[in-house]
Amino acid sequence: MIVLAEAGGFLCGNRIGAVNVAPHTSYSHHLQGYFLENDADYEIQNRDKPPSLKKRFWENKKAWFDKSMAVHGLKRVKSIECDATQFDLSSVAPIAFCLIDVDLYIPVKDLLPKVFSRMSSGGIIVVDDCQPDQMWDGALQAYREFARERNLSTEIVAEKLGVVRLP
Ligand SMILES: C[S@@+](CC[C@H](N)C(=O)[O-])C[C@H]1O[C@@H](n2cnc3c(N)ncnc32)[C@H](O)[C@@H]1O
Repeated sequence: MIVLAEAGGFLCGNRIGAVNVAPHTSYSHHLQGYFLENDADYEIQNRDKPPSLKKRFWENKKAWFDKSMAVHGLKRVKSIECDATQFDLSSVAPIAFCLIDVDLYIPVKDLLPKVFSRMSSGGIIVVDDCQPDQMWDGALQAYREFARERNLSTEIVAEKLGVVRLP
């Protein structure tokens, strides 16, 4: 089995194509609500983001994600509702591809080393929102810090996707 994982699922319209073509199980980690309170507060208090960040998105539902998969005939996608940083990745590893799309500094910072340690060789991690000077640039900060700590080169594709390639 090839495991494709996504941390931070929503309606996932823009990833249907990728999900559809490979035999796999995909895991998407949801929250009731949208962001964890502490993670959003950190952006406002320490990263100069406006309080309106909390209002940009305020709801997410596992049922929406599941419905989106069903509408597109995707039967092998398994969604899991939880804080992605608390999820036991060993239960799904080794992971071939992981999209980290949780927007904020704290969860990306926490997830990158955890996901990295559970990837298969030749695997790829993509971190969304790696663009400077925008609401979700915490993802870029966490991505750059991770690369620096591991002595890895950074690779930004399509001006916003931070790529980590496993040897
Ligand atoms: C930009 S959306 C993801 C969009 C999705 N990749 C798509 O293409 O439809 C960010 C998602 O991350 C989720 N999220 C944020 N922090 C999270 C955390 N700690 N654990 C799990 N999900 C989280 C939010 O609830 C939201 O659904």
